[in-house]
Parts: sequence; structure tokens; C-alpha cells
Amino acid sequence: MTDAEAQPKTRLSAEGPLIHPGCMLHASIFEGWTEVGEGARVVNFTFHAYAYCDRMADIANTTVGRFANIAAMTRIGPTDHPFTHAAQHHFLYRSSYYWEDAADDPVFFAARAARRTVLGPDCWIGHGAVIKPEVTLGAGAIVASGAVVTRDVAPFMIVAGCPATPLRARFAPGVIDRLLALGWWDWDHARLRAALTDFRTLPAEAFLEKHHG
Ligand SMILES: CC(C)(COP(=O)(O)OP(=O)(O)OC[C@H]1O[C@@H](n2cnc3c(N)ncnc32)[C@H](O)[C@@H]1OP(=O)(O)O)[C@@H](O)C(=O)NCCC(=O)NCCS
Repeated sequence: MTDAEAQPKTRLSAEGPLIHPGCMLHASIFEGWTEVGEGARVVNFTFHAYAYCDRMADIANTTVGRFANIAAMTRIGPTDHPFTHAAQHHFLYRSSYYWEDAADDPVFFAARAARRTVLGPDCWIGHGAVIKPEVTLGAGAIVASGAVVTRDVAPFMIVAGCPATPLRARFAPGVIDRLLALGWWDWDHARLRAALTDFRTLPAEAFLEKHHG
């Protein structure tokens, strides 16, 4: 069985997301051609067009760029407990779980939700990676499987490890500048389709030559 045959047949839609079974979604915005894998939890989140996450991804307070690729079992924007206080247990803010006369703490929840993580277009987050709140990944960045990303990642940089550090850039600086200037991720659906064979067959520099980047 090939990898393609192992996947259920999927056709995405310009009209909105494909949500697989068992997902928990809250306060999230989806553009077209997006997909959320089975059992994912997605909270306070914007998925720009063509972005997807695989099974059991757990994503909070994040803006996901167009064409972002998020592997299974990833955790993006894991929130902190109030660890500067005498107690850090969630009874401090999920107080209604424990007492009838105590409300949850809206100020704490609002402060957590404001710490946004930003994923650039066509970034790729490997299996099981963790990305801290308020980190920004540049366009085309790669996060290796199992990495814990604590700092911003430059466009087209590959990072790995815990804490994640740069392994290498995907391309020479001039190529990166040209890819950023080309910004193919903003092309419309028909233009992407017309360039599909070139995307598949040409290395980045040849693609840039042909498409005037
Ligand atoms: C980051 C990645 C793209 C690098 O690919 P690559 O360049 O072919 O990797 P290599 O095997 O040549 O390794 C290059 C170096 O990075 C290190 N490295 C690779 N993956 C690593 C990882 N996940 N964590 C830590 N170090 C890693 C290697 O040990 C090697 O180090 P060395 O030069 O000191 O020996 C790839 O390893 C990866 O993590 N891909 C994600 C796969 C995935 O999660 N897929 C999910 C489905 S989409």
C-alpha cells in the first residue's frame, strides 16, 4: 500500500475547513482549503487558507499562515500556569470547578489569550514539536520533529532540539530574498494550479527563474 492509498480520500473546499471526527474547536476562524485532523484541539485560533494540522494537534491563541503544515501530536501555544503566585494550580482561575460561589478569573484567561503565536506561510512543524506562546515562525521555516521552540525562527530556517536552535537555512540568502519577494503563497487557486507541475519538478532557483522571482 502506498502512502497516498493509506490516507482516506480527501477533497478540500474553498468554502471552509474539513474538520475530521473528534475535534474540539473553540473561538476559531477558518478560511477555505483548511483541514483539522482527527482529535485535534483548536482554541482561539485563525487558520488562513490552505493551512492544515494532522491528528491530535493541540493549538491555542495562534495565527496560522497560509499553507502552514502542522504535523500530528504537536502543541502550539501551550499556556502557562500562574507560577509566580503561592499556588499555581488551576483552582486559581478555573475556580467555578471547585466552589459554587467563586467565578472563573476572566483577567487571567484574557492575558493568556493575548499571548499569540504566529506561524508564517508554508512553515512545516514536525511531529511532536512544541512552540511556546508569542513565538513567530517565518515563512518557509521548518521545526524538526520533537523540537521545543522558545525563540522566533527566521524565514526558511530549520531549527531542531530542546531548546530549538538553527540547524541550517534551507536556501542561500539571495534565494530566500527572492522567494519572499515572489510570495507564491498569496497566489490564487488557479495560478497555483497552473504552476503545479513547476512546483513539483523544479528546484527553488529554477522555479524563481521561470516565475520571475
Ligand atoms: C529537520 C529535518 C527536516 C531535517 O532533515 P535532514 O536535513 O534530512 O536531516 P538529517 O538527517 O540530514 O540531519 C541533519 C542534522 O540534523 C539533526 N536532526 C535531524 N532531525 C532532528 C531532530 N528531529 N531533532 C534534533 N536533531 C535533528 C541530525 O542529527 C543531523 O545532525 P548532525 O549534522 O550533527 O549529524 C528532519 O529531520 C525532520 O525533523 N523532519 C520532520 C519529519 C516529521 O516530523 N514529519 C511529520 C509528518 S509531516
